[in-house]
Amino acid sequence: MPDLDSSHTSGSPDRSILGQPRQVHLAAHFPGVNNTTVWSDPASGSHIEFDSFSHLAQTAEAGLFDFFFLAEGLRLREHQGRIFDLDVVGRPNTTAVLSALAAVTKHIGLAGTLSSTFNEPFDIARRLATIDHLSNGRAAWNVVTTSNAFTGENFRRGGYLDYADRYRRAEDFIDVARKLWDTAAGDGAFTHDSDFFDISGRFPAGALPGGHPVVFQAGDSDSGRDFAVGSADVVFTRHSDPESGRRFYADVKSRLARYGRTEDSLKIYPGVSIILGDTPAEAIEHSREVASQQVSEAGAIAFLERVWDRDLSAFDPNGPLPDVPPAGESISQGRVKHIKDAEATIASWRQIAEAEKLTARELVIRVSARHSYVGTPAQVAAELAEAVRTKAADGFILVPHLTPGGLDEVVEKVVPELQELGVYRTEYPDGSLRENIGLPAARSAADWAAARRDARGAADSHSPHVRELKEVG
Ligand SMILES: Cc1cc2nc3c(=O)[nH]c(=O)nc-3n(C[C@H](O)[C@H](O)[C@H](O)COP(=O)(O)O)c2cc1C
Repeated sequence: MPDLDSSHTSGSPDRSILGQPRQVHLAAHFPGVNNTTVWSDPASGSHIEFDSFSHLAQTAEAGLFDFFFLAEGLRLREHQGRIFDLDVVGRPNTTAVLSALAAVTKHIGLAGTLSSTFNEPFDIARRLATIDHLSNGRAAWNVVTTSNAFTGENFRRGGYLDYADRYRRAEDFIDVARKLWDTAAGDGAFTHDSDFFDISGRFPAGALPGGHPVVFQAGDSDSGRDFAVGSADVVFTRHSDPESGRRFYADVKSRLARYGRTEDSLKIYPGVSIILGDTPAEAIEHSREVASQQVSEAGAIAFLERVWDRDLSAFDPNGPLPDVPPAGESISQGRVKHIKDAEATIASWRQIAEAEKLTARELVIRVSARHSYVGTPAQVAAELAEAVRTKAADGFILVPHLTPGGLDEVVEKVVPELQELGVYRTEYPDGSLRENIGLPAARSAADWAAARRDARGAADSHSPHVRELKEVG
């Protein structure tokens, strides 16, 4: 995944574990809504047929991966009023796909992204409890707040929440879900009365095999990071470059103690891409070819238009970067906007393009299709191990550029190299997804809420993130 953050600091290597190197964990991302998929490749398959999902999940399971991961796109995205060409036209329901995968896998976690802004907690808690039962404790939920109203117009009853309220609702939403899972072990009776929900009843699912499904979060801002340490077990991040990964890792982990949590209780997985070759030179050449396929001429202009927020169709992708300022016209709908400061970003791109004599398309390739790990299987394994050793990550979510076969070679060639280095398991542990990832046992909803209250009550009163949360539990 591209990481546009280019400043550098160094992290502190882990020297604390006696003799045992920090273990690498891997997970598989099924690309779906994505612009890095190479559709022109003959090996590119359906993103809707079950065979594609089962192929990737079973390959990942053969490679002893922690989990299979689905992002969520509730609506086809648009660019200048048209469906964005590189989006997948169609996206099946996440929990239905994961339920089907439960039947054809045994060990791998089944992680689905589900928005807390456009769903209801009772429904989501029940769907995830069902997957947890069907899979014997392998359910996971990536809680996203969804960054635009466009995405949810198709089923939200009018209006939209502002940024801070989306995170407040997300925290409350998870508390409700965890409360329901807690009651499932007993008589199922619950009530919850808060700013966002006023519900009561009995939860119709027996005690969950995994205790609670594992909770992921993916927001990157300061609020997103506080949300992670206050409510999540795993963070999915874009900080794939080891330097910025180390900074992100140190920042997020440093927030945990205040919430009464140990470093190991929250795992960080950047999304990364791997390109292999039999020799280092072959891998570099392969990476160039794939990047060139990932960014077509039209795709390059569309990418720039999303940053410039204006029509740039008059510019030649094989010429210099457009010599016009950004216009803020929001011509693209439904995407997470990772670039907050368009002017600064464009200025830095102009510098890169000038220094390296790049055309507009070459610049887009340079900043959007850079592959995280490029090399022979042994090189890539060593670099992954080094990133984990130096605390740039606890594990990696691999984002293939081909579906469904894009991870075949990684499982066949990189996993054995990792095992050879002594940094990768040779069999799955017994137990639920928590054991698989190396997480402690689930805490109750009441414990999560109490820890958050203690942390935020004790926080500097000048912090904009201290929020009054209604008592839960
Ligand atoms: C790596 C990453 C993946 C995300 N995946 C999704 C997704 O699949 N569906 C979705 O609706 N939002 C997704 N989001 C959006 C976040 O939930 C959030 O709304 C957005 O990042 C704004 O919050 P922030 O300012 O804290 O980053 C993702 C965000 C990040 C950083």
